[in-house]
Amino acid sequence: ALISMRQLLDHAAEHGYGVPAFNVNNLEQMRAIMEAADETDSPVIVQASAGARKYAGAPFLRHLILAAVEEFPHIPVVMHQDHGTSPAVCQRSIQLGFSSVMMDGSLGEDGKTPMDYAYNVDVTRRTVAMAHACGVSVEGELGCLGSLETGMAGEEDGIGAEGKLDPGQLLTDPEEAADFVKATGVDALAIAIGTSHGAYKFTKPPTGDTLSIQRIKEIHARIPETHLVMHGSSSVPQEWLAVINTFGGAIPETYGVPVEEIVEGIKHGVRKVNVDTDLRLASTGAVRRFLAEHPAEFDPRKFLKASTAAMKAICKARYEAFGTAGHA
Ligand code: G3H
Ligand code: 13P
Ligand code: NA
Ligand code: ZN
Repeated sequence: ALISMRQLLDHAAEHGYGVPAFNVNNLEQMRAIMEAADETDSPVIVQASAGARKYAGAPFLRHLILAAVEEFPHIPVVMHQDHGTSPAVCQRSIQLGFSSVMMDGSLGEDGKTPMDYAYNVDVTRRTVAMAHACGVSVEGELGCLGSLETGMAGEEDGIGAEGKLDPGQLLTDPEEAADFVKATGVDALAIAIGTSHGAYKFTKPPTGDTLSIQRIKEIHARIPETHLVMHGSSSVPQEWLAVINTFGGAIPETYGVPVEEIVEGIKHGVRKVNVDTDLRLASTGAVRRFLAEHPAEFDPRKFLKASTAAMKAICKARYEAFGTAGHA
């Protein structure tokens, strides 16, 4: 059944687990997420970005998620809009039937320009008023995703600040977070702790200086009732980088957010963990390997099946590690 984000995250907080929020663009990702959830008895958050709506078309995406709900009626599913750039964008998603929306007022309508606190409060508060009237949950974001080393958001396309960020924007301030939640009434709050979108998060395995789990603890201590959200939380599995590079790819050395650091965050109020890049890496590695090993194959179902299996293994591992398994 389709449920709201608030319902799911309240349950997660009560039972001390986190929920991976996987981005969905196509049938193979949707199947991977649902089959993994089915096999581990996990509730699901699927999220669609603006890029996903552009790729698949909003009606196809909507029906892909509704098809998942129909095929797996025993699994609770949150249909979430990732990184909405304005109240109007969120309104369209609510009309489409999303049960949760993100109003990312940390950036402007272009998804690139860092905005000030007053703007963020204004657009988020307006979105909450509209969404709550429809029983839809809202995720807000305070602070800007980006590397604590370079100050860069680290993504060329999609959502991410352009240019160098202010050090003050890279770590969410606990006092400001408390004020923001009170002023807006958001159901969940995305925070900045040194992660960024995409595969190039850290040039070396992160330490406390580049990934601040400490900041999560400080925010959680100040606003213990607020459900915290980690963006840019792919772990960038070294084994998938190796498969990609063995079979013709060229991805330079790079590191993601270790699963054990996310698990530490979950002990301190993190309830939603956004993962997109890991499924992209697994899918690409599996397709490259399949085609290299089966050069005479030309039925896309064959290599897409390999893609689905690889993504499904990542989903299962996250449901198990984050404690989501067994809570459907
Ligand atoms: O916000 C970042 C997500 O990974 C979505 O990426 O805009 O390329 O679909 P996308
Ligand atoms: P990754 O790029 O680390 O998978 O993050 C995805 C994300 O935060 C989507 O909003
Ligand atoms: Na989101
Ligand atoms: Zn994000």
